[in-house]
Amino acid sequence: MSVAVEVRDLVKQYPKRDVNAVDGLSFEVHSGEIFGLLGPNGAGKSTTIGVLTTRVKATGGRASVAGVDVIRDPVGARRMLAVVPQQTNLDRSLTPRQNLTFHAAYHGYPRAERNARAADLLKEFGLEEQADVKVDWYSGGMAQRLMIARAMMHQPAVLFLDEPTTGLDPQSRLFLWERVRELRERGVTVVLTTHDMDEAAEMSDRVGVVDHGKLLALDTPAALTHGLSGQAVLELTVTPGPADEPEKILAALQGVEGVERAERVGAGGPAGLPPGMAGFPGMPGGGGAPMGPPPGAAGGGVTLRLYVRSQPATLLGPVATVLAERGAQLTGVHIGEPSLEDVFINLTGRGLR
Ligand SMILES: Nc1ncnc2c1ncn2[C@@H]1O[C@H](COP(=O)(O)OP(=O)(O)O)[C@@H](O)[C@H]1O
Ligand SMILES: [Mg+2]
Repeated sequence: MSVAVEVRDLVKQYPKRDVNAVDGLSFEVHSGEIFGLLGPNGAGKSTTIGVLTTRVKATGGRASVAGVDVIRDPVGARRMLAVVPQQTNLDRSLTPRQNLTFHAAYHGYPRAERNARAADLLKEFGLEEQADVKVDWYSGGMAQRLMIARAMMHQPAVLFLDEPTTGLDPQSRLFLWERVRELRERGVTVVLTTHDMDEAAEMSDRVGVVDHGKLLALDTPAALTHGLSGQAVLELTVTPGPADEPEKILAALQGVEGVERAERVGAGGPAGLPPGMAGFPGMPGGGGAPMGPPPGAAGGGVTLRLYVRSQPATLLGPVATVLAERGAQLTGVHIGEPSLEDVFINLTGRGLR
């Protein structure tokens, strides 16, 4: 398996920033795969793409694309790669077709070849009919397709797509996914970034999970989700009984046969009173006596997530019994497979969006 992209101990510190945007990142992308960089806004995805595509100067570390060192030989690297940035950068003074032919001219393609390639790519990306209009008339989805077509004009070995479907309607998103898969069939290596875990799971052969400029995990979507303890997720919305605490309920649920791990979702947020406040002597009606809305009740209960080994439905009985014994009210149940979002929460303790 040959390596299409190599990143080693990459660091990027922007001027006057004390936190590194990319903080010691290392990973490899195999030739011919679709590789997803998944992380929340500000994780350092665009900065990483920026370095790999020679737009951003690295502070430290190494990076190469198709065997060419992007830091030492940016001109050579640009021949091997193409990028579709997060922000549209089409030339509005040119027609869509001219955007393609000018790009190929820049890369030294003779006229006949660039015209032929432009015609082929416009057709492939469904823009044949609108090839000679004003770029301004293009919708977001059309602009995105045109940028990918333009990127493919000089036949790059590696294509970088930075948040390619953010803001696209579902149809445009599907169309784009199909085109990207076709590129992979033709041997193009695709590196895409996304903050959408469904997209990462759907599109990527392998996913690198990043946050705060660091790689947290890297594997196939299936391996990442199966790596989580348990095979399924049971999500409960629970209103704790008087003087009870979510943490104590979690501990009790942890003891149910078949439960691998239990965690509270969204804990630490402004979810009602801190645990234990209900019985706090200084509270109105306090002195340890049971009192009015229990902790968490203000937010409609707390969400508890159980990672389970067995069929989640078979655990509903035992779980309900534990909750009833504690006087906790079960107000919602959701059964699901672990998702990449669960992986992310497991890695960072917080949600992806
Ligand atoms: N040109 C810049 N100057 C200073 N800071 C920047 C610049 N670009 C990005 N950053 C900061 O670097 C961090 C990573 O940003 P970015 O790479 O755009 O993340 P992502 O693409 O994952 O949302 C963020 O904290 C962002 O504010
Ligand atoms: Mg970005």
